[in-house]
Amino acid sequence: MSIKILGTGSYTPPNAVDNNDLSKLVDTNNDWIISRTGIYQRNISMGENTSELSIKAAKKALKNAGVTSEELDLIIVATITPDKFTPSTACLVQNELDAKNAFAFDLSAGCTGFIYALSVAEGFMVNKKVKKALIIGAEVLSKIIDWNDRNTCVLFGDGAGAAVIEMDESKQFYSFCASKGDVNEVLQADAMPLKNPYTKSMKNHQYITMKGQEVFQFAVGAIRKSVNKVLSDTGLTLEDIKYIVPHQANARIIDFVGRKMNYPIEQFFMNLSKNGNTSAASIPIALDDMFKEGLLEEGDKIITVGFGGGLTWGATLLEI
Ligand code: ACO
Repeated sequence: MSIKILGTGSYTPPNAVDNNDLSKLVDTNNDWIISRTGIYQRNISMGENTSELSIKAAKKALKNAGVTSEELDLIIVATITPDKFTPSTACLVQNELDAKNAFAFDLSAGCTGFIYALSVAEGFMVNKKVKKALIIGAEVLSKIIDWNDRNTCVLFGDGAGAAVIEMDESKQFYSFCASKGDVNEVLQADAMPLKNPYTKSMKNHQYITMKGQEVFQFAVGAIRKSVNKVLSDTGLTLEDIKYIVPHQANARIIDFVGRKMNYPIEQFFMNLSKNGNTSAASIPIALDDMFKEGLLEEGDKIITVGFGGGLTWGATLLEI
């Protein structure tokens, strides 16, 4: 069974915040941020929530795919920043798109969410429950960032990316997902504190906290292991792969991996300089940018690699 991407779309809020803007909020500077992360700016919501970003990206993806919302059987939104506990962001998207024939749910796998969502959609397709699906990665991370914490607030941005996919036996597709919950504390953000008449109030970290260097080490290993696994499980070699599209966390992570793997850095797609780290949205935004820039042609094979909170990681081989 295989998956073909029929069309992609993306949306980032218009409010571009550059490194100098952040230096007015916290003790940081443009040189530090660029040299440690490769990020020059990020887009921060001025009121649009995750469902609104999702809907804007989804409408573009449907248009580019030439697919109507009624043709969709499934909508998944991968996010760690939903609008509400319930209904899901995906149901809000379904309503706005009037996608009356789809079932819809959110998926939480941190920055690996889009990879997990593609994998789950493939499962429904294998079981013949779904023909066409809308897969979205969307985040308003600015809701869960401590804007007084220079360790984290410089890294993240808001945005959404979407892909319309369908079954296509002629295309090669492969995916895997992995998790390691025993080190969950290196990257986390709490939900609502547990508070009721029968408990003492509990400590709550409602903002993202991160052990930066541990995350760095994990990310480097996850990209290398994931690419090697995709290649060994598919029988392909790096020469068969036009681009590796990693989660856009940090240019230093990607540069480091490129050197370790002895793989030309130009073949790692990067757009994080303008978006920052948009978590589950980063890979679909990257795919949309690649289509817009004319980098992908029919028959090209690419590997997408996600890694993030959980800890989670995973990858796909996609044939365009
Ligand atoms: N501006 C200026 N100085 C800063 C800033 C900042 N924004 N942030 C931290 N510093 C300071 C620290 O306080 C520290 O100062 P000190 O030595 O006086 O204590 C100094 O810079 C060095 O801090 P380190 O943490 O050692 O910096 P490091 O070189 O490790 O870079 C970074 C930090 C960029 C976070 C790095 O660890 C990293 O890239 N980690 C990966 C994390 C990541 O990408 N997370 C994204 C989310 S996870 C994901 O998507 C999978």
